[in-house]
Order: sequence, then C-alpha cells, then structure tokens
Amino acid sequence: MNSLLRHQDPILHADRLTHVVFNRRDPDAMDRFLRDFGFVSLETSGRSRHYRGYGKAPFCVEVIPADEDSFVGFALVAKDVADLQRLTQVEGVAIEPNDGPGGGLRVRLTDPDGRRVDLLAEIAELDPLPIRAPFVSINTPNRNVRVNAPIRSSAEPSPVLRMGHVVLQTPDFQRTAEWYMHRFGFIASDLCTVADGTPALGFFRLDRGDTPADHHSLAFLAGPAPAVLHVSTETIDIDAVGQGQQHLRARGWTHAWGTGRHVLGSQFFDYWKDPAGDEWEHYADGDLMTADYPTGQHPLARGGLWAWGDDLPESLRPPGPLPEGAPPFSRAVVDALLTPPRPWMR
Ligand SMILES: [Fe+2]
Repeated sequence: MNSLLRHQDPILHADRLTHVVFNRRDPDAMDRFLRDFGFVSLETSGRSRHYRGYGKAPFCVEVIPADEDSFVGFALVAKDVADLQRLTQVEGVAIEPNDGPGGGLRVRLTDPDGRRVDLLAEIAELDPLPIRAPFVSINTPNRNVRVNAPIRSSAEPSPVLRMGHVVLQTPDFQRTAEWYMHRFGFIASDLCTVADGTPALGFFRLDRGDTPADHHSLAFLAGPAPAVLHVSTETIDIDAVGQGQQHLRARGWTHAWGTGRHVLGSQFFDYWKDPAGDEWEHYADGDLMTADYPTGQHPLARGGLWAWGDDLPESLRPPGPLPEGAPPFSRAVVDALLTPPRPWMR
C-alpha cells in the first residue's frame, strides 16, 4: 500500500495534462458533439481533427478517423526538455519532433495497458479565448456580497478551459498506478480499498511542489479489462456547467450523470455520452492540493463517489456478473459499487 502513496524517486514530475486522443468511425458526429460540449475546432492539416479549449493548450482533443471507436491515449507536459532526456535514458526511446499543433518535442511511451502516453516539452501555447467573468460572488445568510448584480447566464456550450483528468479502468491497479507514479511523479490524493485492503480506485495528482495541482489528473479503477471510463474538462463555474447541460439537452445528446458534487475531488459535475458512448465530464470548483497534502484512504463504496445529486446511473455501474475466474478483488469492486449507498436508492 505504501508504494501506492507516492514514488520516492520518480524519473520526473510532469506539470500538466494537455490533451486526449480518440479513434472515431464517425468523426463528423464526434465533431458535432465536441462543439456542443464546448470545444473549438481548429483548422489543421492531416487526417486528424483537433479541438482546442478556451485556455492556452495548443489543443485538448485529437480525433483520428478510424475503422474503430477507441481511446488512444493522452499527453502530459513536462517542466522542461531535461525531463524528456531523463525519460529517454530510462526507457530507451528517442526524443522526436511533436507533429501535432503546438509542435515542440515529445517522448512517446506505451503504458502497461497499451495506451499511448506522450510527454511533451517546448510546445507553443495559444492565447486564451475570451470567456465571461466567473460568478464568484455568492450571497450567504450572513454575508451579502452580490447586490444589484443579478446572475444572467445563457444556455450555450460550457466553455472548456482545459482538460481536467482521465479516468481509466485497469486489470492490474497496482502495476498501472506504480508505472505512472514512477515515470511522471504522480501522488495518490485518495485511495479506496475493498474489504481485504486491496486498493481498487485511486485518484492521482501531479507533484507541482507548492503550486496547487488538481486533486487528480489521472484516476484508475480496478476492472477486468483496460477501458476509458471518462475524460473530464474544467469550465468556468457552476452556472457554466448547468447552462452547458441545457445546451446539450437542446441538441439531443445523451445525458449520463449529474449535476452533482463529487466527494473525492469535490468537483461540481455533469456527465455526457459522446456518439461512440464514451463519457465526458464538465466540472467546476474542483479541489486543488499542493504536494505535501496527505493521501486520503477510504473503503470503496458507491456512495463515496458523490456527495449529492442523482444516484450513479446504470451505465456507470459494473455490468456484472463477472466471468468465471475473475480475480477476487474484481468481485469485491463490483459488490462495493452495486451496494445501494442510501436508503432511497436501489
Ligand atoms: Fe471525473
């Protein structure tokens, strides 16, 4: 368990998550979804389509036209080229030019489950796009700070500022988590264990020292096969999440879960399905931690996933029953997630 809290001597400390990559059989449908979700299409050459957010990242999503729908992987940004060099020395791979928007340099790895993980440096960032000011003045019973200033937001796509996190299912939780902690300096923010003490769900943040980092940039759930469970994006504030939901409803997309407030990470959330069935989260007001914040340890339980809001939808629950021969912890994970967390839930 201790080896899952933080690696004592990681190869490097990555700075941030920057983009995700998907294969899509119907890139036109994906294009409609991503625009409605709050991304901005970029004019780029080549087969892939790229989408930026309203922040500085050169792009947030790459869609590769393909004969299958699948998650390819994601990219992290290093603090400097020396980090790429350290990684090449350990992994025996080369630094190569990054051929996507933003250019710069990259080291391309494959994680234990076969996903592409790029580490980038010297990428050219974009000027942020204009967004409305966040609604940060909140009236409370004993503190009236918003006077003669009504909240007026419109039903429009929630502007995606940047990628927040990627949540992956992995058949070997310990190996996968340690792989990321050793290479990129991830720290466990919260670990959830099944009854025998085996960690089965973990939220991992980047080590940015005294600079606050998202509660998690990566999370893993133990499960029978590698899968992407969702990708998450940060938008302006709670009203942007809510008004984005109105827009996505108006456009006929499939809602998955929300709005609600998570427990581990505290994000105000809303989940939507893309045309291939993968899930995308809008969030606002997530937790930020510095590197010294201790790891939380909890029993895995469905009710621990959100503080308030609707019950976990069927689509996010384990399908069960598990195949014969499934490892015991898989059964424990399924039991934990299928047990109704509150009296009025089933
Ligand atoms: Fe999430």
